[in-house]
Amino acid sequence: MVNLYSIDALKENLEPLRNKGLKIGFVPTMGALHDGHIALVKAAKEECDVVIVSIFVNPTQFNNTEDLKLYPRQEDKDLELLTQNDCDFVYLPTAEEIYPPDYEEVKIDLDTIENTMEGEHRPGHFNGVVNVVSRLFKIVQPTKAYFGRKDFQQVAVVKEMNRQLKLPVEIVTVETKRDPSGLAMSSRNLRLSEQDLDKAVVISQVLNKGKSWANSYSPAVTRQKMIEYFEQTSLKLEYLQIVHPDTLNDLNQYWVSGATACIAAYCGDVRLIDNMELITKEEN
Ligand code: PAJ
Repeated sequence: MVNLYSIDALKENLEPLRNKGLKIGFVPTMGALHDGHIALVKAAKEECDVVIVSIFVNPTQFNNTEDLKLYPRQEDKDLELLTQNDCDFVYLPTAEEIYPPDYEEVKIDLDTIENTMEGEHRPGHFNGVVNVVSRLFKIVQPTKAYFGRKDFQQVAVVKEMNRQLKLPVEIVTVETKRDPSGLAMSSRNLRLSEQDLDKAVVISQVLNKGKSWANSYSPAVTRQKMIEYFEQTSLKLEYLQIVHPDTLNDLNQYWVSGATACIAAYCGDVRLIDNMELITKEEN
């Protein structure tokens, strides 16, 4: 694996490959890598000729400075894991290179996609995501870029950004990787104690409950039952919504194909998110 620390180094290495017509698969990350990230690397390896991962803890997407400060960083371990998984390139930019003094902020209207769930509870978060992802796309110029379904709303935002900015990148979504307990893998899990890890399992449990309740109840009733179930646990619920998979509008009376329950909750002071498709999406 080749470590790239600058745009110049990146261009020098990728340009000849692009000119040969090779497919470049890109996996943007903030590091503290785990098997969820590696699932994206593997998907990219299967579909592309070359795989590049970026590691950049993007300050503009953190609405809480404490969260940014506490975000786990383990570069050496990350590089080892990527090498073991046959990643070809890793891009480790500095903040100055991503956001140079003449950087012009990208502003797009995400409308309803942004004003709910993560967007509602983390003001400015998706503006930061849009800016860093569009900037990374411009620098890396990948053929395909891989995102995890774990960040369900992020995928919707990135797809909409891609559409509005007419970027020539194919967005691929990869299923959520879970621990054997059901807990969705996350860099933030590193901040959980053994006890907290046990407690946090309730997040995937309530999503599974929701999936079975969806067979008998409306979205509104299913949601209510899920909230009541969750309120009996020691985690603190921030939101639990059942949404349309494309518009992210709340569902109340009727189910739609791909209806998804999304949840954010605090386990101690660690904020965790997860989601699950409650109604299997019918493929066209
Ligand atoms: P990060 O949280 O590091 O996640 C990088 C990618 O890994 C995202 O697409 C995320 O959805 C995916 N991922 C995380 N946990 C996963 C899991 N358990 N299963 C499958 N995929 C998982 O998301 C970000 O970074 C940032 O917002 C970023 C897109 C890099 C922009 O800064």
